[in-house]
Amino acid sequence: MVGLQDFPRCLYRPDAFRTLMTDEEPAMKIRPRRSVLYMPGANQRALDKARTLPADALILDLEDSVAPDAKPQARDNVCAAVKSGDYGSRELVIRVNALETPWGTADMFAAADAEPDAILVPKVSHPGDIVSAAKVIKAAGAPEKTRLWAMIETPMSILNAREIAQTGADPENRLSCLVLGTNDLLKESRARMTGDRFAVVPWLAMSIVAARAYGLDVVDGVYNDFKDDAGFREECEHGRTLGMDGKTLIHPSQVTPCNDIFSPTADEVAWSRRIIQAFAEPGNDKKGVITVDGKMTERLHLVMARRTVAIAEAIEEMSMAEAAEGRS
Ligand code: COA
Ligand code: MG
Repeated sequence: MVGLQDFPRCLYRPDAFRTLMTDEEPAMKIRPRRSVLYMPGANQRALDKARTLPADALILDLEDSVAPDAKPQARDNVCAAVKSGDYGSRELVIRVNALETPWGTADMFAAADAEPDAILVPKVSHPGDIVSAAKVIKAAGAPEKTRLWAMIETPMSILNAREIAQTGADPENRLSCLVLGTNDLLKESRARMTGDRFAVVPWLAMSIVAARAYGLDVVDGVYNDFKDDAGFREECEHGRTLGMDGKTLIHPSQVTPCNDIFSPTADEVAWSRRIIQAFAEPGNDKKGVITVDGKMTERLHLVMARRTVAIAEAIEEMSMAEAAEGRS
């Protein structure tokens, strides 16, 4: 009989113990974040066009893509766009300027008032940057649904990835997603961008394990050469293989290929359903390991299979909602 003494760490991780004993999963609520499209807040045409693009999430930017003189106008455009309610089921995210800039506090208050799904905090370097942002948006009256996303784009953010992600363990901090800023990381580190992302991979991997350790999502950096379809697809595959949930994008042409690559394939979904069904068969429901189609299949594969099916179902639900809204 297995007991708590066999899992001493479970004494302070009762949730982990329950999962080990029963592989019972907490209710899986998945929001696909395959394609996350940036657009400059000063570009009204782009804000309008995004209403009809099939991106899972939109980042309406007030930061690096907006020139200093255009910041106040961009803030007005972006907040009006979010309040319009014209973006259907897409997740709406406002990227503000950092609190220490001349625009940061006004951006945070305006964004909180517009009630987006999330506010993306740029140049996060220390856990305190998230804790402070959470306090500011709370003081500004942001509704509970407004989460924080964190840009991982400075050398210090890589060194502190674990502590930054750990702020998500306290619900007061509202952190739900890490976003890689690979252009900034390349600039700050003086590394070279190569096709295989040789210099970038360690930063991506650090961010992914930090996110996973604290139950957060994580999305990859952008691919600048938006006319290079083959190179873009290769980089999406690369991010997916590493474990990214999706990729940030800069151009509408990148949305559809990105959605395709970050969706579970029909074969993956069918295989996952076979695993779920096999474990549900009489006699198998208590077994730790079984054979499915000649392959050793453990309960950890069952957990992965459930996640794959949950993502596929969430994507299906989103496309049905889009069709009902007349957008696809
Ligand atoms: N979001 C929504 N719509 C966009 C868009 C975006 N990111 N980028 C381009 N579009 C729209 C254009 O407004 C244009 O719409 P129209 O047909 O109604 O005129 C259409 O897509 C085609 O655009 P195109 O002419 O191919 O591109 P461009 O030369 O106008 O712009 C960029 C190229 C790179 C400047 C532009 O795509 C862009 O600003 N991307 C986002 C940059 C950003 O936010 N960076 C910050 C994070 S890294
Ligand atoms: Mg940046």
